[in-house]
Formats: sequence, structure tokens, C-alpha cells
Amino acid sequence: MTATIFEFLSKIGFTHPLHPGFTHIPMGMAIGAVIFRLVSFLPKLKFLAKTGYHCVVLGLLGIAPTVFTGYLDWQHTYDGVWQFLIILKMVLAAILTIGFIAILIIDDPGNPKLDKKTALYILIVLLAIGLGFSGGELQYG
Ligand code: HEM
Repeated sequence: MTATIFEFLSKIGFTHPLHPGFTHIPMGMAIGAVIFRLVSFLPKLKFLAKTGYHCVVLGLLGIAPTVFTGYLDWQHTYDGVWQFLIILKMVLAAILTIGFIAILIIDDPGNPKLDKKTALYILIVLLAIGLGFSGGELQYG
């Protein structure tokens, strides 16, 4: 399947990795979510907690294409060879998915507080940083 996809893309002139373009969705949304969450504690800006919550929704939707294209690039460019950074990325991606889902289930963005729910927002941004760092290490060494 991987070879077929990359052969087709190559025929239409696209020869780049697929994953980097998708990584911005979960990473950007995780960063946006925590920024809006923290800003919502400022006077009169409580409503921005809902914006942060909506970032989590889009971040979660972006996980599947990001992981799928990460898998494709890993098979295509790295021959699917297991290495520490790939395993780390899989583990971090799984925890990030759980973090996004946990926020969507337990958070009440109409009533943001500096509590465990806000700590979850900080956790997802740390996971996104870990995924970006390990991805950069893979790509650029
Ligand atoms: C939400 C999950 C993930 C995020 C946010 C993420 C993020 C990133 C980022 C920022 C890069 C650097 C891209 C660049 O060069 O600009 C990268 C590279 C990479 N990631 Fe991920 N990653 C995720 C999951 C995965 C998974 C699960 C795999 C493997 C199964 C994977 C495999 C790769 C590979 C092989 C590269 C090297 C560049 C390439 O050929 O695409 N990633 N990742």
C-alpha cells in the first residue's frame, strides 16, 4: 500500500514526505489550546476557555491523518526500521490522543479553573513539544 501511494504521488509530481504538512494540526491546536486556556484567567477573558476547548476538538481530529502519514513516511523513508525515536513518537502520540480525549470528556470550559483540568492542557503542549522535537531529530539529526 505504501509503495502504491508514493508511486502515485511521484507520478503526479509530488515527491515530498507527507507527514510534515499534517503535524501542524495537532501541534498548533495543542499550543493554541493551552494559550487560550491560560489567557482565559485574565479579567473579562473567561470566554476564551471555550476557544481553547475547541482547539482540542480540532487537535484530536488532526491526530489520525498525522499518525497515518507518519507511518507512511516511516515505511517509505526509513524502511519501517524500528528505532528509539519512532517508538517514542508512537508512545507520545498515544498519550496525546488520550490527553485530548480526557480534556473533551472532563473539562468544563464555561467554568475554567487553575486545577487538574488546566494541568491536562499543559500536559498536551508538553507532549506536542516532545513529538516535534523527536520528529526534528529524525528528520534533521
Ligand atoms: C500527533 C502525532 C505526531 C506529531 C504531532 C508529529 C510531529 C512531527 C514533526 C513536527 C516532525 C518534523 C517534520 C519536519 O520535518 O518538519 C515529524 C517527523 C517525523 N515523524 Fe512525526 N509526529 C507524530 C506522530 C508520528 C508517528 C506515530 C510516527 C511513526 C509511526 C511518526 C513518524 C515521523 C517520521 C518518520 C518523521 C521524519 C520526517 C518524515 O519523513 O515525515 N510521527 N513528526
